[in-house]
Amino acid sequence: PVTPPNQRRLAQKLRFFTDLSQCLFDFVIQLLPTTEELAVKEDVRRLLERLIRTIEPDSRLLSFGSTANGFSLRNSDMDLCCLIDSKERLSATDLVTMLGDLLERETKFHVKPLPHARIPIVKLSLDPSPGLPLGIACDIGFENRLALENTRLLMCYAMIDPTRVRTMVLFLKVWSKRRKINSPYKGTLSSYGYVLLVIYFLVHVKNPPVLPNLQQMPPLRPISKEETHLGGYNTWFFDDIELLRQRWHSENVETVAELLIDFFRYYSRDFSYNTGVASIRAGLLKKDTKGWQNNLSSGGFNDLRERNRLCIEDPFEVDYNVARCVTKDGLYTIRGEFMRAARVLASRPERAIVALAELCE
Ligand code: GTP
Ligand code: MG
Repeated sequence: PVTPPNQRRLAQKLRFFTDLSQCLFDFVIQLLPTTEELAVKEDVRRLLERLIRTIEPDSRLLSFGSTANGFSLRNSDMDLCCLIDSKERLSATDLVTMLGDLLERETKFHVKPLPHARIPIVKLSLDPSPGLPLGIACDIGFENRLALENTRLLMCYAMIDPTRVRTMVLFLKVWSKRRKINSPYKGTLSSYGYVLLVIYFLVHVKNPPVLPNLQQMPPLRPISKEETHLGGYNTWFFDDIELLRQRWHSENVETVAELLIDFFRYYSRDFSYNTGVASIRAGLLKKDTKGWQNNLSSGGFNDLRERNRLCIEDPFEVDYNVARCVTKDGLYTIRGEFMRAARVLASRPERAIVALAELCE
């Protein structure tokens, strides 16, 4: 019997999605950190915590960012945050200076204290060793409790649908690094920004959604404002993931490949860059209503205008545009890359692996 052409095309398309999904899993799995790397990093964290406690006995040193949210790639940097539980504590500036001196004396790290930065931090790096062939880069900040919370939020999203969410995010992180559009200092977007774009897409763009909106789910019991607010920001979200996994099931059954293709299509064509704000908390918002216009008439405000080309609302610090560092050129490049990726995947080459290789070239 002869298969009609449209049925054959459909079968080919489905085969491409299955192949590409498999390639994506295989690709990201080999880029995950090894157990050895994770163990060395935990040892480093413990060593640093012990040293910091000689200055501030009531302190704890916690991981945030990719090391703690499930989106870590091999050799990614370590983001550490020092919390001090006592009321009387040194200022961040003094702590950074003292800690810098101490680490320089007591460890093999290359140390760069930045006590007068907007957010004072100590930057550390370690030369390569057998357990860490590419060394370590690490930033220690202080009292950045919001970062710990947004890390926990991203981790919860990763846990709801680990296969699809983690594969998409990890792939986009590798892709954006290889395509050189992951440098906030050079006018493109941080990893954190890309992760928020993925979650926004899975919560608010896909219909049916792949993920629920954890910040809008009703709490299981009444909660007071003291429990939900941190530094004036509402940081509450539904974090009982075990319960959620029992009660919430996405009706979206698309493969990772289909989601990724649609992600690139959406951000190359459909997202309203000129007027829209992507908010994982509240869906698509307007730049106007947030006061984040980028068409202010000039007169010394060039700097301001450049900040709101691309708008991504921080999940908790709602007055903060995570993509403020993206310049006009940066956005042009990023959109060009989204278009290129959509084009490569739409051409559906015979072998999915070829598409992946071309994508990350
Ligand atoms: P890689 O370092 O590339 O592996 O990615 P990452 O997941 O660690 O992301 P990134 O280094 O961009 O950010 C680390 C963490 O810092 C994030 O998870 C956030 O908690 C925090 N962070 C980074 N950028 C911002 C920002 O612009 N605003 C806020 N509020 N937090 C940020
Ligand atoms: Mg990081």
